[in-house]
Amino acid sequence: MAQAGYRDALGAHARRLAQSSIEDLNRRQPGRAQQLALRIGPLYANFARQSYDQPALDALWAYGQSLELPQAFRRLFDGAPVNLTEARPALHTALRSDLGRGPVAAAARAQVLAAEQRLAAIVAELEASGITDIVSIGIGGSDLGPRLVCDALKPLQGARFAVHFVSNIDGMAIERVLAGLDPARTAGILISKSFTTQETLFNGAILQRWLGDAGRLYAVSADVQRPQQQFGIAAERVLPMWDWVGGRYSLWSAVGLPIALALGMDAWRQLHEGAALVDAHVLQAPLQQNLPFLHGLTEIWNRNACGHASHAVMCYDARLALLPAYLQQLVMESLGKQVGVDGRPVCGDTVPVWWGGAGTDVQHSFFQALHQGTQMICGEFIGCVRGDDPHPLSHQALLANLLAQTQSLANGQPSADLQRNYPGGRPTTTVLLDALTPYSLGALIAMYEHSVYVQSLAWGINAFDQFGVELGKQVASALLPAVRDRSVTVDDPVTAELLAQLHR
Ligand code: F6P
Repeated sequence: MAQAGYRDALGAHARRLAQSSIEDLNRRQPGRAQQLALRIGPLYANFARQSYDQPALDALWAYGQSLELPQAFRRLFDGAPVNLTEARPALHTALRSDLGRGPVAAAARAQVLAAEQRLAAIVAELEASGITDIVSIGIGGSDLGPRLVCDALKPLQGARFAVHFVSNIDGMAIERVLAGLDPARTAGILISKSFTTQETLFNGAILQRWLGDAGRLYAVSADVQRPQQQFGIAAERVLPMWDWVGGRYSLWSAVGLPIALALGMDAWRQLHEGAALVDAHVLQAPLQQNLPFLHGLTEIWNRNACGHASHAVMCYDARLALLPAYLQQLVMESLGKQVGVDGRPVCGDTVPVWWGGAGTDVQHSFFQALHQGTQMICGEFIGCVRGDDPHPLSHQALLANLLAQTQSLANGQPSADLQRNYPGGRPTTTVLLDALTPYSLGALIAMYEHSVYVQSLAWGINAFDQFGVELGKQVASALLPAVRDRSVTVDDPVTAELLAQLHR
C-alpha cells in the first residue's frame, strides 16, 4: 500500500472513533492501561488515554511497519547522510553511544572521545582556578539544552559553579546577568556551532569587554578558527563540535560544557548513559514495544488522522519548567517543514504547535481552554514518581494533580448545564520518570529526539535542516543600517512607517 493509503486508513479509523469516548475505550478493554504502557529503564510512558482503539492501533502499526523504521534508525546511527538537503549525517547518537557501525560512525566516535577528554581537562582547569561563576553565551541549540539540564538538575545546595545563561540579543539580558557578578571570578563560554550567530557575537563582545584583558573566555564551535580570529581565544580553550551534529541535537557534545561544569563529569556521563539506554532500545526493541516508535506514531495519529494542531507539554515537576521551550526547538525546528526530502510539497499537515508549562501553575492559566475550549489540544504530562524535596505531602499533591488532570481531560464530566459540562475526549500521554536524575533526563531527551525522527520519516521530511530560520536573519542584517541611521531608506512601505516611528 502507498503511504497515502495508510494515512487514509488512519483517517477512516479516526472518523469512526470521533464520537467514542477515551474512558469507554479503557473501561471496555480490561488491561488496556497496561497494554498501552512501555518502559525503558527509569522512563515509563502510558498511551492509554489516546483515542485509538485496537483496530486503529493495528492500522497505525501497519503504517509504522511500512516506514521501515528499524532500517532508517540503522542508517541514522551508522552515519548515512540522512540530512539529505545538506548531504551529511546526523550523528548525535555517536555523542553518547557506540552503536553505530562502519567507518563514518567510528570516525565520529573517535572525535567525540578525544573532545570529551579535552572537555574534562577544561572542567578540571576551571575547578582549580578560583572561578565561581560561568556565563554561557549561545542561542537555540547552543543554549536551550544546557540551560534545561543545568536548571533541572541544579542541586539545592553546594553548586560547583553558578552557571548563568545569556541568549537574547537584547542588551538588558546580559546586563541583568553581569550586574551581580565579579569579572575576576567569572569565566565566559561562547557556544555557537557556526560562530556567525548575531546574538552570540554581540553578547560575546559585551562579555569580553566586561571581563577585561585578563578575562577567561572559552568557546565551543564547529569552526575552531573563528573564536581565535574574532575573540583571540587560544586554540586550547576552543572545544570542537562538528557539522554532523545538528544544533538542537548537540547538548551531548561540548555544547554541554556548562552541564559538565555545573553538575560535574559523573553527572555528565550519567546523562549520556541515560541517552545511550534509549539508543539501544530504539535499535533493538521490536516495533510494538518500541517507545519512541509508539510516541512518534501517536503524534502522527493525532496530527494527521485526528487533525489536532496543538500539542501542550505539562511538566509536573518544577525542575522541568524549561522542557517545553527545549522541545519547542527540537520538535518545531526539526518538523516545521512543508517540502519533503524529495523536493515536493508534503501531503497533509506536519508539526503541530508545541508549547506548554509547569504544572500546577498552568492549571491556573490555560487549562480552562484545555478542558472546555473549542480547539482540541493534545497533552503530554510528565512527572517524577519520587520527589527530591523534603516535602512529601507537596509531592503527593503534585502527583494527584497530574493524575486528576489527565483523567478529567480524557473522561470529562457531563452536565446538563452546558457552562459546567466537561466534554472530555482530550488525548494525553503520561510520562513518568522514576526520579529526576541525569540518567533519567538523558533517557527522556533521547526519547524525544528519536520520536522526532520517526515523525520526520512519516512525513518524508528532513528533521535536520532549518532553512526556514534564515530569511529573518538576512532581513534583520539588511535592516540594521536603516535602524541605525534615519537617512537610510527601505523599500517596504510598512517597514518604512515603523522605522519612521523608531526615528521620531
Ligand atoms: O536560528 C536557528 C539556529 O541555526 C539553530 O538551529 C541553532 O541551534 C541556533 O541558530 C544557534 O546556532 P549556532 O550554534 O550556530 O550559533
